[in-house]
Order: sequence, then C-alpha cells, then structure tokens
Amino acid sequence: LPPQKKSAPQPSDPCKGCREVINKVIERYSKPWKKQEDNYQKFRSQLSSKCHGFDKAIITQANTPVGSKLVYDGEKRRTLQVTPEIFSTFAKEHPFPNKTWDTCAVVGNGGILTNSSCGKMIDSAQFVIRCNLPPLEKSYEKHVGIKTDLVTANPSIFIEKYGALMGRRRPFVESLHSYGNSLLLLPAFSYGHNTPVCMRAVYSIEDFESPTRAIFFNPEYLQSLALFWRSQGLRAVRLSTGIIMASLALEHCANVHLYGFWPFSNHPHGLYALTNHYYDDRQTKTKFHAMPAEFDLLLRLHSQGVLRLHLGDC
Ligand code: CDP
Repeated sequence: LPPQKKSAPQPSDPCKGCREVINKVIERYSKPWKKQEDNYQKFRSQLSSKCHGFDKAIITQANTPVGSKLVYDGEKRRTLQVTPEIFSTFAKEHPFPNKTWDTCAVVGNGGILTNSSCGKMIDSAQFVIRCNLPPLEKSYEKHVGIKTDLVTANPSIFIEKYGALMGRRRPFVESLHSYGNSLLLLPAFSYGHNTPVCMRAVYSIEDFESPTRAIFFNPEYLQSLALFWRSQGLRAVRLSTGIIMASLALEHCANVHLYGFWPFSNHPHGLYALTNHYYDDRQTKTKFHAMPAEFDLLLRLHSQGVLRLHLGDC
C-alpha cells in the first residue's frame, strides 16, 4: 500500500470557544433594524422616572447649593459637604437644559472600531459622546471620527499619564486640544480619592484658559442608574462608562447610536482577533465591570428598536 498522506495541519481556531457565543449574538443582531417608537418612549420614561438624568445627571449650582451633602456613589459611607470653593467649580446652569438632540453617537473604545470606516457616520451625529479621553489622532479619524461634544475622563488617566497633575499641567491641557471645545465630564464624587485630582484638572483647565468645560457627574444619578440597571438584571460592582453614557443619551436623544461596544476578543464577522481598545490592548477589569452582561442588555434594546448598536464596518 502507498504510504498514507498526512492531512495538512489545520490552522488553529482563531476564536477558541467564542464562535458559539458570537454566532448567537449575530443571530440576534442580524434581523433588520427599525426604530420602535413605542418601545423607545416606554424605556425612556422608565429611565427618566427612576434616574431623572434630565435635571440630575450633572451637578449644577442650581441643583447642588452650598452646604448640600454629596454621598459618594462608590463609597456610600463617604460624604462631602459642598463648600463655597467646591461650589464655584460647578456649572452655573445645566450644560444641556431641557434639550433633546435628534441623533447622538455614543462611542465606546472597543477594538471593533479598528478599520471600521465608521468615522464619517459617527461625526454625522448631532451630538457625539466619547469615553475616557480616547486618542483621536489623524490615523484613527477614518474609523472613529473626530467630532466630540462630550468626553468623560477617568481620574486614573490623570494619575497614570499626567503624574496625578501634581507637576506641570500643560501636557494635560494640551492633550485636550483634540476634543475642541467639548464638555469634559468627571466622576469627581464617585470615590474620595477622585475629588482632589479632578479639582486639579478643573483648575488646570481654568488657569490655562482651555476651551474645554469641566462638569461633574452627580453621584446621586450614578447611584440611581446602578439601581435601575440592577432592576433590569445587571449584577456588576460598577457600571462601565459606556453604559452610563448610553443611558444618558437615551434620555436626551431621539436616536441613539452606539459604536465601539463589543466586549469580545474576536470580530463578529471575520472572527479574527481584536485588541480590547481601538488604540491599545489594555484589558478591562472584570472584577468591577460586567461588560458582556451589559452588552447583552444593550443588544436587547437594539432588538427592541430602542437604540441602534453598530457592529462591524460602516
Ligand atoms: O473605563 P472603562 O473600562 O469602562 O472603559 P474603556 O475601556 O475606556 O471603554 C469605554 C467603554 O466602551 C466601556 O465602558 C464599554 O462600555 C465599551 N467597551 C466595549 O463595549 N468593548 C470593549 N472591548 C471596550 C470598551
């Protein structure tokens, strides 16, 4: 008998075990999407009645007078009595009072944005929200866009990238140029250690006359939002920035589009490996966040026509 031919080595599965999960997601995702006005209105009014994001999401001088007591949402036993000095850093009025935008893009930082060509579509939204001061260099523009109306910052960025703003502050203020004159939303009252570093960020912005305007999350809003999502079945220590911003957008925008939300390690269509972020491969702290569970809830809203998730290329 002739020697048996050895079969060619099989390429290793690029998506060890994730194929089934992704296929299930794609099955739910691939039905044609249409906004379901009734579902949208119903969800929005549930969210508004529980969280009141419209007037409560952002701390202002109107909703938080001198002397009021802030309860840190990440450390329930810690409180802060608002002093005149802290009060002076609050927005005078609500930065987007009673306003409803037609279209909002909430841009998560997922590696799914890499080579997505979604930049133009993102930038075409009336209001663009980004998370955690993401890099917006020229090389990313085609895929993530450049327009920014509101951007969040996690104080860990100030600590890791800008020496906790204890030394020179110019590099930090210069880094804000890429977000134009957007609003910078800070969780100054989520943990005690956030407050001083966020205050240094605010003072740096003022002292260098940056066009960026710093505003603060209201910890009461974050607390009620965590309870709201818990009532929807989410069990996580902390909500991710992305789901917080998607929730805020659902109260303020008639059409909510999500980009860069994909907490899986492989692409939904090609199944090739993705980095965790479009700009690096730093992993999410699974100890705090439950992004796949959040994603499941967002996918449910997509299927109900409440918001639109964009997966894959534009
Ligand atoms: O600070 P955090 O870990 O929440 O966020 P990030 O890594 O800077 O990304 C911003 C948001 O994008 C997250 O809060 C998630 O909602 C979303 N994201 C995602 O859905 N999939 C990824 N692979 C990475 C981020």
